[in-house]
Amino acid sequence: MKYLTILLIGSMSLMGASTEVVQYMNELSSVAKTENKSFAGFDAARGKEIFTSTHTGKQGKPISCTSCHTTNLSNYGKNSLTGKVIEPLSPKANPQRLTSVKEVTKWLKRNFVDVYAREGTAQEKGDVLTYIIKN
Ligand code: HEC
Repeated sequence: MKYLTILLIGSMSLMGASTEVVQYMNELSSVAKTENKSFAGFDAARGKEIFTSTHTGKQGKPISCTSCHTTNLSNYGKNSLTGKVIEPLSPKANPQRLTSVKEVTKWLKRNFVDVYAREGTAQEKGDVLTYIIKN
């Protein structure tokens, strides 16, 4: 098990998330297991659905993660509420991404509320981070 965790950390950091963010994702994974007995690991396909689907957001209007980050995570985005330019979300295109747990937790909390009008579950956060890392 320990060996597996080390392997996971190794391969994830190669793919773009910092060690502290990978550690955070391991914590999300533990919580997801306690909340959902059939949880069998994070899934980029579920993450894609979370990222691209449209919901009634906090302002009562249709919105998705792609409204601000676009469907191409290597592209610049634009904040649909303020009009400000957003740097690419993909760690492959933007090495600053997924390096700080403080940034990641702050924005996931805020952005889930923007789009889903609630906070994300541990599984949802892990799935969407897995999708972002792979894109
Ligand atoms: C209303 C616009 C908006 C929407 C919708 C939005 N985001 Fe963001 N997101 C931002 C802004 C602004 C930032 C912070 C500025 C920056 O980092 O460039 C950010 C930052 C992030 C970060 C921080 C990454 C890092 O390490 O720097 C993640 C992760 C993220 N968003 C994921 C999501 C997800 C997942 C969704 C959908 C649930 C979403 N965003 C929806 C505007 C948005």
